[in-house]
Amino acid sequence: MCGIVAYIGDRTAFPILMKGLQRLEYRGYDSAGISLFNGGAKTYKCQGKVKDLQHLTNNQDVSGTVGMGHTRWATHGEPSDNNAHPHASMYGKFYVVHNGIIENYAHLKKELIQRGYSFVSETDTEVLANLIENIYLEEKVTAELAVRLALTRVVGAYGLVIVCADIPDALIAARKGSPLVIGVGEKEYFLASDAIPIVEYTDEVIYLQDEEVALISRDGLDLKTLNNDSISPHVEKINLSIDRIDKNGYNHFMLKEIHEQPSTITDTFRGRMAADESKFFLGGIMDVLPKLMGAKRIVMIACGTSWHAALVGEYLFERYARIPVEVEYASEFRYRNPIVYEDDLIIAISQSGETADTLAAIRQVKGSGATILGICNVAGSSLSRETHAGVYTHAGIEIGVASTKAFTSQITVLTMMALLLGSKRKTLSQDDYAMLIHEMAQIPAKIEEVLQKESKIKAIASIYKDVTNTFYMGRGLLFPVALEGALKLKEISYIHAEGYPAAEMKHGPIALIDEKMPVIALAIDDSSYDKMVSNIQEVKSRKGKVIALVTRGDKVIGKMADHIIEIPKCHEAVSPLLAVIPLQLLSYHIAVMRGCDVDQPRNLAKSVTVE
Ligand code: F6R
Repeated sequence: MCGIVAYIGDRTAFPILMKGLQRLEYRGYDSAGISLFNGGAKTYKCQGKVKDLQHLTNNQDVSGTVGMGHTRWATHGEPSDNNAHPHASMYGKFYVVHNGIIENYAHLKKELIQRGYSFVSETDTEVLANLIENIYLEEKVTAELAVRLALTRVVGAYGLVIVCADIPDALIAARKGSPLVIGVGEKEYFLASDAIPIVEYTDEVIYLQDEEVALISRDGLDLKTLNNDSISPHVEKINLSIDRIDKNGYNHFMLKEIHEQPSTITDTFRGRMAADESKFFLGGIMDVLPKLMGAKRIVMIACGTSWHAALVGEYLFERYARIPVEVEYASEFRYRNPIVYEDDLIIAISQSGETADTLAAIRQVKGSGATILGICNVAGSSLSRETHAGVYTHAGIEIGVASTKAFTSQITVLTMMALLLGSKRKTLSQDDYAMLIHEMAQIPAKIEEVLQKESKIKAIASIYKDVTNTFYMGRGLLFPVALEGALKLKEISYIHAEGYPAAEMKHGPIALIDEKMPVIALAIDDSSYDKMVSNIQEVKSRKGKVIALVTRGDKVIGKMADHIIEIPKCHEAVSPLLAVIPLQLLSYHIAVMRGCDVDQPRNLAKSVTVE
């Protein structure tokens, strides 16, 4: 949420900043801005996207080898030119870009107003800029100390890059809660909210940790805690290729990411499945396996799409490992004073590994003695650092704001974990274990087959693109997939969509069915099939339109439904991985036909680092 980029070195900063902002735009896109330092400071910022900023800077002086940029997802103050970052302090001594929220900004602002400060924006960031400046001017300390002193007064989360006009050849970076990565080059440094804008310049990075402050000049980097303790920076190599962050000929990242799923799921398996498909190895959790096997209860914590993956996990762990599972929205769990026991297993699931509520939830249970595992896509993310053990999903960078490949990789990991635990606990026979691994191994090829249905799905999309409401219904393992299908549609096409367990329809929602209401029914050949057939009939009797997802060769549902989309036959344990693909494609094509910005849907941003 919000993207920060900054540069110091010998190159012209402007193109690096603009390219970086384009790469980070998925984190927020309601305004954008840059400041360049070349003698004095020049700031260009505006409401809108990076392309609007590009337009604004045409024919302007964009010289300078030090600079910072920001692409915003509004929290305090509506999207506007004034609220766009960077923010300058009142006397022009400090320039700040910020990702996060200063929770006590109102109190600090009041204090600053009493000291004569006035404000030009409604943001919490401008308050911070003025607070730093006020300390700097009144206490006559260095810029770096003024930053540290100011941050000790701040409640909230921040990823920050700051320039003091008196030392314009230095960047000050700080982090608490919101990620910040420093790319290390030859007498140059690249700063960004994630590694994506950095990889084309260097593969050496430092992940700033909470409450660390870095003073960065061309000659080096001085890293400290807020309390002035020196830290030696830990430089890591990142393994991220540029083609992973390009569209590779697709019109949108989302479509590219949908089509990548056969290979991303293969990447999730890689090195984790025995060649003879007889067992899984999950290196990340082997050390804690005895604790996992003895767990009395599993609590899965996540938000959004990751929460849907957790619901799939619940079915699988209960069915195959016979351990009771509770699935919690991180944002609800953390405020409930939850009861957590030492022999609980907590599994936090997050694509980004930076979702504020998910991180806060695991921090809250840390003292309980429970084992905390992370399932996460981003190496080096906060979640991966703050859990006892975990498994990376290896889906590669997901740039489309609507999650697709991360979801299927999360489910792949959860399925592997559930089956592995089931086999170790002997709640799953070795024959069934091997049979299910074999089923999983076939999934990438079967997804390829589902992707071949794209033109049919596109034709269905063209029929329903103008509807205002939709239902998705499924049972068992496909109920979470119904929720996920509805979320995909609503978030990128702005059509109201609801997912329901099919049997719940008659407890209320069926009242909404009429000839205008499309119902997407997930009715594959599984243990709920007969019941789903009845549920489809109930919809048809009320003149609803049914788009049914069925197993190839189904002879029954085709006669009732208005449209069918066939998927290959598979074991129901792995069916979510196939069933979600047509739903992703349907949402994508409907959104494109409605002229929506698929990769950057309104009001949203990737990586929700605010609570
Ligand atoms: C929806 C979507 C979001 C995320 C949610 C959690 O397509 O992407 O619902 O799933 O914001 O994000 P992570 O998984 O990064 O914790």
